[in-house]
Amino acid sequence: MKFDLLNLNPGTFGLDISDRSLKAVFLKKHKRSLRIGGFEEVFLPEGIIRGGEVQDMEKLAVFIKKTSGKLKGLETRQVILSLPEEKSFIRLLRMPAMSVPEIKAAVRFEAENYIPFSADKVYLDSQIAQFPGESRDYMEVLVAALPKKTVDSYVAAIYGAGLIPVAMETESQATARALIKGSYAPKPVFIVDMGATSTNFSAYLGNSLRFTSFITFSTNSLGTVLSEALKISPEEAAKAQVLYGFQKKGGRAKRIFEVLSPAMAVFIAEIDKHIDYYQAHSFQGKGNGIKEGVRELILCGGGARIKGLATFVSQKTGLIVQKGNPLANLPWEEKLNKKILKDDLLPFSTAIGLALRGYRPALYD
Ligand SMILES: Nc1ncnc2c1ncn2[C@@H]1O[C@H](COP(=O)(O)OP(=O)(O)OP(=O)(O)O)[C@@H](O)[C@H]1O
Ligand SMILES: [Mg+2]
Repeated sequence: MKFDLLNLNPGTFGLDISDRSLKAVFLKKHKRSLRIGGFEEVFLPEGIIRGGEVQDMEKLAVFIKKTSGKLKGLETRQVILSLPEEKSFIRLLRMPAMSVPEIKAAVRFEAENYIPFSADKVYLDSQIAQFPGESRDYMEVLVAALPKKTVDSYVAAIYGAGLIPVAMETESQATARALIKGSYAPKPVFIVDMGATSTNFSAYLGNSLRFTSFITFSTNSLGTVLSEALKISPEEAAKAQVLYGFQKKGGRAKRIFEVLSPAMAVFIAEIDKHIDYYQAHSFQGKGNGIKEGVRELILCGGGARIKGLATFVSQKTGLIVQKGNPLANLPWEEKLNKKILKDDLLPFSTAIGLALRGYRPALYD
């Protein structure tokens, strides 16, 4: 799962692969800072990837090639790609303090105790999840496991497109790298990445993710509810969602709000449930001095663009809810390019995080 670090000069290229779309971002050096060289999205027809599993590797390669071809000025063939959250298994372990090589060995040795696959069928990755003031007697280690079969088919498709996969990580790892300023959160932050086919949840604290999960509720689920209740086509439902979103004002908007409300109640219950689960299973307050629970939630993905969603989620959960800033770790871009709209980039948060990895290697590799 790990590959060597990248040659920085030609820029870095992140590719976020979902069931129904490919999103590519490349970053280039501008004097001594980093800027966005380009970003593109290409939709995937149904059936090429299903539930995070590649069904047609050759067709995927063709679409990957098409996507990278659209990025004007891209000079590198090296790509950092995302791996599907729904196929990944992430656990936070507490281990006695030891050196990084010892941790790697212990993780591999004990893998079968905490992942539901046999160790020879998965790729394992681990990093120390640190927080200042933590005890020196133990360490918290984030372990990610993905089935080799799943990963290998993505890698084959990248090669098939004439590109070289240099690093990969799960969607949530990449998304957090884009949205968490300086990759450090002094208090726990809950990230909700609402996409077209699923929603990923993750909790970030200190320098690391601590928890990830996903549900199949998505913007498509809302579209289906709308088209069935209002007897409109899926295309019209998608348009209505963009135009009216989730707000109580105005006749048509109010009707849409009413239709979507029961589905949104289920979504809010899922958010609450996952936050409760994270808090119950995290080591917070258990000897590490972090007593504070989740109070902040960041929304990203295309769903974060739904009008009124952030306000609604905040009212229902009682949390401080913000749309993510995909440029949080690209301050120069923010300063120099006033035309780039952060909202337009929200669906590209994962791809931006992947590209950033070329410049910001994981702290503990
Ligand atoms: N301006 C907008 N207003 C409302 N909804 C929007 C807007 N822009 C995008 N969306 C919604 O976001 C969805 C796409 O989200 P995103 O790009 O995050 O999905 P994805 O990453 O391809 O899917 P997944 O990660 O679930 O496989 C669209 O299907 C649409 O419903
Ligand atoms: Mg996505």
